[in-house]
Amino acid sequence: MSRKYLIAGNWKMNKTATEAVDLIKEINSSVGSQTTVQVCVCPPFTSLAKASELVDQTEVILGAQNMSAHPSGAFTGEISAEMLRDLYVGFVILGHSERRQFYGETNESVNKKVLAAVDNNLKPIYCIGETLEEREAGQTLEIVRSQVREGLENFPANAIDNLVLAYEPVWAIGTGKTATDEMAQEVHADIRKVLVEMFGDSAGASVRILYGGSMKPENAAGLLSQPDVDGGLIGGASLTSRAFSGIVEAALSA
Ligand code: 13P
Repeated sequence: MSRKYLIAGNWKMNKTATEAVDLIKEINSSVGSQTTVQVCVCPPFTSLAKASELVDQTEVILGAQNMSAHPSGAFTGEISAEMLRDLYVGFVILGHSERRQFYGETNESVNKKVLAAVDNNLKPIYCIGETLEEREAGQTLEIVRSQVREGLENFPANAIDNLVLAYEPVWAIGTGKTATDEMAQEVHADIRKVLVEMFGDSAGASVRILYGGSMKPENAAGLLSQPDVDGGLIGGASLTSRAFSGIVEAALSA
């Protein structure tokens, strides 16, 4: 089964709603009408309503950066799956390493969010990846495997096509240090093995595994040419249309 590349921009805490309008318009005009590579933008919550209108007539899909595991109620500051669906959000990034590091998220708490997301027809982009310390201690595969197993516990097999994983080595995020093509492929292939163990062969063939961590137009082609790298989750380089579109172009010619 061939997997369509997904290039998703994680804007993190960048861009006001006013600035988001300009960037989305630029992305729309450069890569918003092609259908070969799936393109997703994940601006902050404050821009989602506006962004939703702007991408409406394009192929660009809207994503969010986080979500509550709870459906509604007294959870000050939180955003529910239903609120995201109402704005036609398609993807939601869950368990990003910055949320694990700064906001106490764990495999267990992210698992609840992942299940709530699929329950509401949102496609989770579930993030995993080792720290520098863990890599240097030779624990990369062990850490990533447990993130996959625990974060995806009880994931409904019939919704497996809605699942996206993002392997983001923490030491490569925002540092300019990218995993080599081979390092990325090794971990992606291992993640796919765990998916096959958990959900069977067809899941292993259909779930997309994105790479994230200092991906840019210059290194995208090499990473995307690896057999188990199905796209990218882009931080810094998603903040200008030029760099982001450059990565989409790399996926188009990969
Ligand atoms: P950078 O592309 O800025 O390294 O960020 C990657 C990332 O964390 C995407 O979620």
